[in-house]
Amino acid sequence: MNDGTGTTGGTGKIDTVRLGGPDGPEIGVQGFGAMGISEFYGATDEATARDTLDAALEQGVTLIDTADIYGSGANEEFLAPFVAAHRDEIVLATKFAIERDPARPQHRGIRNDRAYIRQAVEGSLRRLGTDTIDLYYMHRRDPAVPLAESVGAMAELVAEGKVRRLGLSEVTGAELREAHAVHPIAALQSEWSLFSRDVERSAVAAAAELGVTFVPYSPLGRGFLTGAFADAGKDLSKDDFRRHQPRFTGDNAARNAALLDPVRKIAAAHGATPAQIALAWVQQRSAVHGLTVVPIPGTRRRARLEENAAATRLTLTDAELAALEPIAGLVAGDRYPDMSFTSVSREG
Ligand SMILES: NC(=O)c1ccc[n+]([C@@H]2O[C@H](COP(=O)([O-])OP(=O)(O)OC[C@H]3O[C@@H](n4cnc5c(N)ncnc54)[C@H](OP(=O)(O)O)[C@@H]3O)[C@@H](O)[C@H]2O)c1
Repeated sequence: MNDGTGTTGGTGKIDTVRLGGPDGPEIGVQGFGAMGISEFYGATDEATARDTLDAALEQGVTLIDTADIYGSGANEEFLAPFVAAHRDEIVLATKFAIERDPARPQHRGIRNDRAYIRQAVEGSLRRLGTDTIDLYYMHRRDPAVPLAESVGAMAELVAEGKVRRLGLSEVTGAELREAHAVHPIAALQSEWSLFSRDVERSAVAAAAELGVTFVPYSPLGRGFLTGAFADAGKDLSKDDFRRHQPRFTGDNAARNAALLDPVRKIAAAHGATPAQIALAWVQQRSAVHGLTVVPIPGTRRRARLEENAAATRLTLTDAELAALEPIAGLVAGDRYPDMSFTSVSREG
């Protein structure tokens, strides 16, 4: 166990931290994002994905992240046999709040009301094949619904034993504080990477002050930071959701690919990959901002899982951190085509 900086050397299982403070469960300092197994990033081979989950446990990557929206429930169902086999070895996180309409595939509705939350948790419990969710997140915020109602309803689920801890995703620092006053929040999950640093406006400081664990999602910039993409039209399959992401398309993609030069240079100096440098950077935010950071990179391949876990043992020097500092400010394109669902849209 360390203080969350992830800087110890050696091999074997990765370091651990406590989720949401000293009384929380011990989890690996890096978690696993399961989303891409079921949707968004192209086709998945099931056996390979199951082997990747086994690799996660072997590495000590124990925070397993899903959501009811991923594959419209398919991701939770995919995880169920793994959950059954390893219930006490993992910390299982899922999310509610995004409603889909089969007739309008691109449509996303946000629901934060009590009746919806009570219904959503039952679906997640059933699909995951468990009677308790370790960490239950509100995936997106509908500002029309008071946080007291949403977090109050989530707190009822804790009292009833359906949920152990609460989390929020894509909320501002002020919203995190308001929610935490209703019921302790164990984790804030928002996008944070070398390419996406808007959480540093208010959310990071609030999480540090309240002792909330920060769970950076898309820490590899949805794969872009690995250096794999220069032209989404050529590099990605037709059904890949990133084809519609502003940073992956047109001139933006070419400009953003050029921003990776310092990442490549630092990777070469460490005998590491660009993906590992991106993960080491976000992990080191822990020391920079004084909070626990548990990124959840997603992959469907054992070798990449092992590569990503090894990044928890990498420490970047001050000079290297300084060389990486300007990147986020130079990125072309927003992180989503529609930014109205993100916390930054409510920060002015
Ligand atoms: N709260 C939210 O709103 C929200 C939003 C998005 C995501 N999330 C969560 O965050 C998790 C991670 O985010 P993400 O999957 O969007 O993005 P990510 O972790 O930044 O990147 C995933 C992509 O990188 C590739 N990849 C992973 N490791 C690699 C490596 N070492 N070398 C080369 N390529 C590598 C993966 O491909 P392969 O699979 O082919 O290896 C995949 O295409 C998700 O799984 C989900 O649980 C939450």
